[in-house]
Amino acid sequence: MKVKLKNVFVIYFLVSVIGLMYALLQLGQPCDCSQHLRSASDLMHGKDKKISQLLSEVKRLQARGKDSELEGQALPVIYAITPTYARLVQKAELVRISQTFLHVKNFHWIVVEDSPVKTQLVSELLAQSGLRFTHLHTETPKEHKLKESDPNWLKPRGVEQRNLALQWLRENRELSEEGVVYFADDDNTYSLRLFDEIRSTKRVSVWPVGLVGGLRFERPLVEKGRVVGFYTAWKPNRPFPMDMAGFAIALQLLLANREAQFDMLAERGYLESSLLQSLVSIEELEPRADNCTKVLVWHTRSEKPKMKQEELLQKQGLGSDPSIEV
Ligand SMILES: *[C@@H]1O[C@H](CO)[C@@H](O)[C@H](O)[C@H]1NC(C)=O
Repeated sequence: MKVKLKNVFVIYFLVSVIGLMYALLQLGQPCDCSQHLRSASDLMHGKDKKISQLLSEVKRLQARGKDSELEGQALPVIYAITPTYARLVQKAELVRISQTFLHVKNFHWIVVEDSPVKTQLVSELLAQSGLRFTHLHTETPKEHKLKESDPNWLKPRGVEQRNLALQWLRENRELSEEGVVYFADDDNTYSLRLFDEIRSTKRVSVWPVGLVGGLRFERPLVEKGRVVGFYTAWKPNRPFPMDMAGFAIALQLLLANREAQFDMLAERGYLESSLLQSLVSIEELEPRADNCTKVLVWHTRSEKPKMKQEELLQKQGLGSDPSIEV
């Protein structure tokens, strides 16, 4: 029994020593955990990268925010002058163009009614438009007004109204303010891209107008980036054979030339020329819309609605409810 007990001790001792030695040997050697450590550090590295990516994204977005703020401040205001008069399609036309204008940054709408008073229809439309606006009115003198039976080309329309808007700008804006003035009639269709082209006007910028002058389009002819003539069929010898919708003028140019305005007595077709002649020469015109090869505004006149049934019913005292605005 004694011997056996001693053997047990010896074996126990040996096993302990071998175990200890094994453990000591293992300490110095690379163990499996190094792999875990490596993947952990890879993971950390990846996260670091992700964080720095996110940080630079945040910085980029902040910078862009600042840029667009600056842009917003520096962006010249586009003043669109719209003469308008009461007729069946008036509200529809004004709603249509106002909703285009809502998409244009730094925009100021000057609406001038041909009316002895500001009408409720236009006042409410403007108030609800969401646009920055100025509402003016002046009635065209009787001797200048088109009669019901006159064809619409007989006398130029909207002359006093446009001139009143120019006067308003001269009285309410400073030479130091950056802006561009555009005569935006309410019977045209405007591409938003047009306003990007207009914005950079230095003196007078020009571009094609679609569906006008009995043609698919009229346009300035451009060679080597300069206007050298005009594509137009009707009275091509006019100084500026262009439609009202085909040019924009720098606000400063209009403020510096306080006498420049539309001539009430201008011959048919010469209204645009009467203003532009005192402001620029052909060579100074700035072609826009890819050297005047893109149509971005159309002279889309609305058809005059027929009211035959309405008139018949009115005679019987059964006309439509006049309190409902159309
Ligand atoms: C307009 O024409 C000029 C001269 O030919 C050219 O340098 C310029 O790139 C053109 N611009 C556009 C927008 O097509």
